Amino acid sequence: MNDITKDGERVVIFDTTLRDGEQSPGCSMNLEEKIQVAEVLEQMGVDVIEAGFPIASRGDFEAVSEIAKRVKESTVAGLARATAKDIDRAGEAVRHAARPRIHTFISTSPLHMKYKLQMEPEAVHQAVMDSVGQARNLCDDVEWSPEDGTRTEHDFLCRCVETAIKAGARTVNIPDTVGYTVPEEFHRLIAMLMNRVPNIDQAVISVHCHNDLGLAVANSLAAVQAGARQVECTVNGIGERAGNAAMEEVVMALRTRHDTMPYKTGIDTTKIMKASRLLSAITGFNVQPNKAIVGANAFAHESGIHQDGMLKNAGTYEIMTPESVGLTRSTLVMGKHSGRHAFKTKLEELGFKLGDNELNDAFQRFKDLADHKKDVYDEDLIALVDDAVVRHNDRIKFVSLQVVCGSKGPQTAELGLEVDGETRVEKADGNGPVDAVFAAVRKVFPHEGSLQLYQVQAVTGGTDAQAEVTVRLEEEGKTVNGQGADYDTLVASARAYVNALNKLLVKREKTAPAALSA
Ligand code: KIV
Ligand code: ZN
Repeated sequence: MNDITKDGERVVIFDTTLRDGEQSPGCSMNLEEKIQVAEVLEQMGVDVIEAGFPIASRGDFEAVSEIAKRVKESTVAGLARATAKDIDRAGEAVRHAARPRIHTFISTSPLHMKYKLQMEPEAVHQAVMDSVGQARNLCDDVEWSPEDGTRTEHDFLCRCVETAIKAGARTVNIPDTVGYTVPEEFHRLIAMLMNRVPNIDQAVISVHCHNDLGLAVANSLAAVQAGARQVECTVNGIGERAGNAAMEEVVMALRTRHDTMPYKTGIDTTKIMKASRLLSAITGFNVQPNKAIVGANAFAHESGIHQDGMLKNAGTYEIMTPESVGLTRSTLVMGKHSGRHAFKTKLEELGFKLGDNELNDAFQRFKDLADHKKDVYDEDLIALVDDAVVRHNDRIKFVSLQVVCGSKGPQTAELGLEVDGETRVEKADGNGPVDAVFAAVRKVFPHEGSLQLYQVQAVTGGTDAQAEVTVRLEEEGKTVNGQGADYDTLVASARAYVNALNKLLVKREKTAPAALSA
């Protein structure tokens, strides 16, 4: 990290998918899923992985400490409020990391100090000194953030930043917590800090932008042009409310417009699609088709004029190649006669490296799919592997489904689920087949969660296309999204519901600290 930060062109990529991202409604992940995401982040060259908020729950603590033990190249950070308990817990969680970091924060805006913290500015200033000092006793690499930084009075912000650096913070992060600033204003704010804080050269300035006005990436880039050298971001832009700056957009903007922004990152951009797809599969948050860089249409050319131009010279309508973000062209892959070896090779081409058990599960699902679907495409394999693999450690597993439906009711579903290793079968009626399937799930595993969203999407074209279903459940204010894919829409629906239910069980364990609003 030190060598990186001495290179004036180098922008440190700090990924907070597993903390700010995971904190947002419907995005919770279990330990296994967080480890998978962390592994991909490390492979793609992310400099700092913020792995979680250790004080938030036992699960968060375990995830941060497990990731800290496994990740060797990236720095692993744990978040902490400005309290002794939080900082101790974060220090303990990152203790085994090859490169540990404690990230501590406190609100500094008048609004937050008065209403959220109910603290006087002097007490907040003292807390900055104490919290950073305590963190430095536990860890050499400390980052400090003034929450709601963009709505903080400049004199007070300068004073707190100077104090944090004096107390030992190596990185000072300026968050636009509520996504309120605009690029020109944020540029001025960063430039103001660079000019006015006397010891600013002893720390890396970082930025953390939320996307409430759709400006998170633009604001982050403006800050880099003013001197910031760390950008906090998330895969697919997930995060609180409208999300955080999308990592793929920040990285590709810096790469594609190096002519106007002469900065570089350490990201292997060909891993972008893999990270995006993995995260969508785990969280059930599908990326909108027209999303920059990773949306399904980001490299699609539909109109005749554009297609004609593309055939003559791809540069006419393409400012970056699909290959540069790791997009594989949609190809016909295999049929029912394809063997295990060919299947494994194809999955590796698509960026999936599976363990033996996972490969066996996925291969079984592929054989079953190939028996029912004439042409199996890359997209089919991705949906199938996402579905088969990321659910490996779930407590509740789909086993079987029989549905009777049609115009003469009642519609009935007989569903088999494995719950903690024991198979249970129940029959239920419903207003339509999906309702019957979901009623059967509730009979096998009674729960309070209520259905908020049911969405079906075809993975490819054709009537034999696989269905990808998203189910959103809500219980006591906690929301989760589940996903399932299958050539049978009702089986995909049952899988999606079961996936959401598993996430709800994980979420039940979590108790968010009251004052956490970041
Ligand atoms: O948005 C925010 O202010 C945060 C801080 C904890 C950095 O997430
Ligand atoms: Zn945030």
